[in-house]
Amino acid sequence: MFNRDGFTTSIWQSTSEPYQSLHTGTLKKEFDIIIAGGGITGISTGLLLQKAGMRCLLIEARNIGFGTTGGTTAHLNTLLDTPYSTIKKNFGEDNARLVASAAVEAINLIRKNIREYAIACNFVEADAYLFAQNESQDKELQQIADSTNVAGVPMEFVEKIPIPAEFTTAARVHGQAKFNPIRYLYAIAGEFEKAGGIILQHTRVTAVEETAPLNVSTGTDAFTCRYLIYATHIPPGVNLLHLRCMPYRSYAMAVRLSNNNYPEDLCYDMYDPYYYYRSQVIDGENYLIAGGKDHKTGHEENTEKCFEHLESHIRKYFQVAEITNRWSSQYFELVDGLPYIGQLPGSTSGIYVATGFGGNGMIYSNVAALTLSRILTGQDTDYQKLFDPGRIKPIAGFTNFVQHNADVVKQFLGKLLPAEKLEVLSGIAAEEGRLVKYEHHKLAVFKDAQHNIHMVHPVCTHLKCDVQWNVAERSWDCPCHGARYDVDGKVITGPAGRDLEKVNIE
Ligand code: FES
Repeated sequence: MFNRDGFTTSIWQSTSEPYQSLHTGTLKKEFDIIIAGGGITGISTGLLLQKAGMRCLLIEARNIGFGTTGGTTAHLNTLLDTPYSTIKKNFGEDNARLVASAAVEAINLIRKNIREYAIACNFVEADAYLFAQNESQDKELQQIADSTNVAGVPMEFVEKIPIPAEFTTAARVHGQAKFNPIRYLYAIAGEFEKAGGIILQHTRVTAVEETAPLNVSTGTDAFTCRYLIYATHIPPGVNLLHLRCMPYRSYAMAVRLSNNNYPEDLCYDMYDPYYYYRSQVIDGENYLIAGGKDHKTGHEENTEKCFEHLESHIRKYFQVAEITNRWSSQYFELVDGLPYIGQLPGSTSGIYVATGFGGNGMIYSNVAALTLSRILTGQDTDYQKLFDPGRIKPIAGFTNFVQHNADVVKQFLGKLLPAEKLEVLSGIAAEEGRLVKYEHHKLAVFKDAQHNIHMVHPVCTHLKCDVQWNVAERSWDCPCHGARYDVDGKVITGPAGRDLEKVNIE
């Protein structure tokens, strides 16, 4: 099993071993491109660039698939989370069509790779169904169908849906697909390496000097490159993008059914947040994969309850024989409905980013690969302007805001707290995490199964928000921009670059 950014185990984790990089021996120090992040965005982009003759180095802080690619539910759809009506309203009708054709091209890129490299990842063509369950949803569905058709993605009303749920109206889109994202990811990572690309796992980009060429350090090594791409889900550091991408958690389960009634197609209801369903064959076994109960990161007091709700929802429609996996993962919602792919705002011309994929990570990761590879090899692409992160207008006072947040650091480091004074510790149950007050300070305390206390300062090292306990994933999650830390304060996911400060007990 490979590691992921959570305590729970996704179906992809429990059915795949860690990726073994081919690289051994000494490393060159000069590259055309360095990519930070070994998920589907980084590897897909790296493969296109390496094949185009660029010398690429991919640096992953943990292991390939550690981030959201290891926790996705892997829907390949042109029916996107942001309705085409919203895209049309914010960006115009032509751009709504352009987004639709980008989504089609993304799925085609995956199809092409699977064909060209003979990838066994259980890729299956499918339809997508969206179903309404009351009058107001009927109206909304009609609007979505109208705008989806105008965008060039044919959507038709149908009488049947592939899951046993009651509905009032439903509509279908052809040309969607599903696959095993990790088997696909590992295969294209292998092709990237065979083409001469280098993958360094368990290595973190620790510093970047914005010179020409760029200097990129990992703590143990220093490299130069013309271009650096942050394919890290959200870029590190402090950037306007962090104010435009809102972190959310989504919950998923893999389920074996007693009646074999697995839906072949992709299916979505219309609640907010919505539930989603599909099936996937892995190593000859069929699974229903269902998800939902999304909420803003760090805003749900008891994340275990999300699994309980999801499970009872699944049991309403399906005959559950066994729940094999339950997991949650993170995504970033966007203010205006489209991702940010292109030059990092406020940086020199050499630093690029791809972030804000909403619930369409499998699609936009590949749109990002197409867009970035074209930009960096000097090809024209209409996607450059459409997804340009530079469309964000600088906010008055942003620099002061950053400065202010950076200054509000109440250092707690190095304090040794006398255990007998922390009476509250005895009231914490095993496997429980809690924010507690000690004198004038807040502490984030976790008691493990052996009753060992893990204590950290609960102020996020990114921009100083207080982290919150995520019981399902045994992590401290930041509600502001989605950084997550383990029980000892180690960064699990950015944008934070530094661990929480540990507090020791005497
Ligand atoms: Fe920005 Fe925590 S992630 S303050």
